[in-house]
Amino acid sequence: MRAVLLTDLLSQALSEANPVPMQRQIYDVIRRAVLDHSLVAGQKLPSSRALAEELGVSRITVSLAYDRLIAENYLTASTGSGTFVAATTDLPLAGKSEASHARHTMALSQRGTMIGTLPGGLQQFHGAFVPGVPDASLFPFHLWRRLVSRHIGKGDLALAGYAADGGGLPALRQAVASYLKISRSVVCDPEQVIITAGTHQSIDLCARMLADPGDMAVIENPCHWAFPTVLAAAGMQIGAGVVDEGGLSLAASHVPRHARLVVTSPSHQYPTGVVMPLARRLELLQGARDHNLWVMEDDYDSEFRYDGTPLPSLQGLDSDARVIYVGTFSKAMFAGIRLGYLVVPAHLAQAFASASARIYRPGQLHIQAALADYIDEGHFAQHIRRMRVEYGERQQLLRTSLARALGDAITLSEARAGLHLFMRFNLPLDAAVLHARAAEEKLVLGVPRFIGARPDIDGRSVVLGFGGVPQDHIARGVNGLKRAVERTLGRR
Ligand SMILES: Cc1ncc(COP(=O)(O)O)c(C=O)c1O
Repeated sequence: MRAVLLTDLLSQALSEANPVPMQRQIYDVIRRAVLDHSLVAGQKLPSSRALAEELGVSRITVSLAYDRLIAENYLTASTGSGTFVAATTDLPLAGKSEASHARHTMALSQRGTMIGTLPGGLQQFHGAFVPGVPDASLFPFHLWRRLVSRHIGKGDLALAGYAADGGGLPALRQAVASYLKISRSVVCDPEQVIITAGTHQSIDLCARMLADPGDMAVIENPCHWAFPTVLAAAGMQIGAGVVDEGGLSLAASHVPRHARLVVTSPSHQYPTGVVMPLARRLELLQGARDHNLWVMEDDYDSEFRYDGTPLPSLQGLDSDARVIYVGTFSKAMFAGIRLGYLVVPAHLAQAFASASARIYRPGQLHIQAALADYIDEGHFAQHIRRMRVEYGERQQLLRTSLARALGDAITLSEARAGLHLFMRFNLPLDAAVLHARAAEEKLVLGVPRFIGARPDIDGRSVVLGFGGVPQDHIARGVNGLKRAVERTLGRR
């Protein structure tokens, strides 16, 4: 905690109405901040004169509080240099046991504890072969800065406030609707577009609005970790849906009566890379009808297809308003933008928008306005076109390098879309050991998340992202991976 924040903390905590003397109140606040490490060892405190002035109390009041904290070893004083937080080892024992007592009596809720056990993502976002990241170094930030500045420069204070409508800025909803109609055959009016803070928030909103606690979500096995994590955190049970060479098969999956929602990524199943054929899409919609399920379509990776025209979205094929379309700007722009969107059936649009306003209180309207311009002026489509060529080349290079280096030992997912390859080993190999060996080569491999048995691929498959790996790093990465595989197999 910075000194200025300590002053704020004290100003808020101190009260003249409190019968406890002011000197004791100051002592208590600083002591607590030292014990919970908000103030860290060695940190300099404001002088007693400066603090007294800020707080509007007499200097002697602050000096007496400091003196007691120094006498009890919470603080140290050095003549001429000031007052500092004492080293942790010097802290009085009474304080330590009090802090640990508080830790043991104040526990997380059952849900809070459960959330800590749910899958999480990688903590590394750069380098070979981190999956799911685009190459932000090729994003036109100079242009982006101009668009954002344009809206900040206009001085429109409405853009500096909360969003008036929980669905997002109307101009952005309009831009997204037009883009999706042309590029993804999504049938919607702008009011059906709900702008969110990315896919996690989109999933959360769907779970809260379409299911009750205890209802089941049938999700693909394996899947992107966000789905089991966010759905379970929102109180849903998770069922494993069968994924085969056509993608998710509801017909082959167990769908219990309390299933309310099915989640699928038909454009490029994550992580297996399967592109769902049209017949399976129609079958899935029929299955959802038979079981009366909502369908969440995560149109992941649809921007980056390398084999011709994309297949129509499930949303575009849906004739009875049960598909919720989920999209993100994380891959087509840059991950930190944290903007995504839902397209919901027309009769749900108002309820979703007002729920989003109530639960999340959205804003960031300068960014939303800049994004609307970025799409409307054609920059978005242009960047996607450019990146599609670049990613297509990276993918080809990675495929050929892997095939050369590892040959029959592996089977790769098809080269049809996306920013990653799914690599399955055709011989027994301990993927956990491979991850460790790869880390020694400074490589990061994606871990598929399983939510049910998949003995055919569990423990012998990894995800290799190429979106963030420049072409001249790919061959080096594959050489490192080959060494890691050989050491895992004990050949070196
Ligand atoms: C399958 C899948 N869907 C969606 C996303 C996008 O998530 P977000 O919008 O939270 O960045 C990812 C990110 O890696 C993903 O793997």
